[in-house]
Amino acid sequence: MEILGSKILITGAAKRIGRAIALALAEQGAQVLLHYHRSGPEARALQKQIRKDFNYEAPLLRADLRQPAQVFRLAEAAWKAFGSLDVLINNASTFFPVAVGRITPKDWHEAVSVNAEAPLYLMDRLGPRMQERRRGKIINIGDWNYLRPASRFLSYCAAKAALLSLSQAYAKALAPQVQVNAILPGAILWPPDAMKIPKRKVLERTLVKRQGSPQDIVKTVEFLIRDGDYLTGSFITVDGGASLY
Ligand SMILES: NC(=O)c1ccc[n+]([C@@H]2O[C@H](COP(=O)([O-])OP(=O)(O)OC[C@H]3O[C@@H](n4cnc5c(N)ncnc54)[C@H](OP(=O)(O)O)[C@@H]3O)[C@@H](O)[C@H]2O)c1
Repeated sequence: MEILGSKILITGAAKRIGRAIALALAEQGAQVLLHYHRSGPEARALQKQIRKDFNYEAPLLRADLRQPAQVFRLAEAAWKAFGSLDVLINNASTFFPVAVGRITPKDWHEAVSVNAEAPLYLMDRLGPRMQERRRGKIINIGDWNYLRPASRFLSYCAAKAALLSLSQAYAKALAPQVQVNAILPGAILWPPDAMKIPKRKVLERTLVKRQGSPQDIVKTVEFLIRDGDYLTGSFITVDGGASLY
């Protein structure tokens, strides 16, 4: 699929990896729709940059992905913004530690709603419409750690595992018209320092012995949109070999 002119919804687009994806696709002439939740100023700054650099007015769509009603409204608003959609990128995520022995329903709900349930509803409402138009790609951003869940992040890892199962289920359900794939990043951008990630240890446990960059994810997204027509139900691991270590 050509990136130029494609209508692309990116969740969690205001900052970090989502922002890098949005900027790169806008630069190549995609009509990006920017979803955000708390980062209003950053989303508006990104919209302004895209307007200035690429002469394109990206719609901003706000939704709390923990709230199903808002997720369904987001799906409707995204489709209505351009009358169709070519690509859905489920990038938004919450990543936070939990204490074994003290896990709460709130912890579980937060992890599952943002990382799995919202992508499920977006795929469910937008995928069949893409299928009807015989044109569509869905890219789910997972995490290679779903293969080796860290107990400190067990709700996040379990939610990402659910997302990957859903990714393959929708690859089947939406075939042959729509391709659904997942990207599994490794250490790309550190979470806030307060989270105390053992950075040196994490990087030692890669084969390439270094951190990745948002551009590694951007290039994989571009590949899936532009060239990945024979891939569906696939997981592409972009982790510097961490999963083999
Ligand atoms: N960073 C890494 O090294 C790494 C490693 C492995 C996997 N990944 C995956 O790659 C993707 C991007 O990573 P990232 O680190 O850039 O993500 P991130 O900063 O943790 O989160 C991206 C966005 O998700 C949105 N979000 C969180 N809770 C939300 C809610 N309740 N409703 C709506 N949006 C919500 C936030 O939007 P607002 O700020 O607007 O609220 C946030 O900016 C994620 O799926 C992540 O799991 C990243």
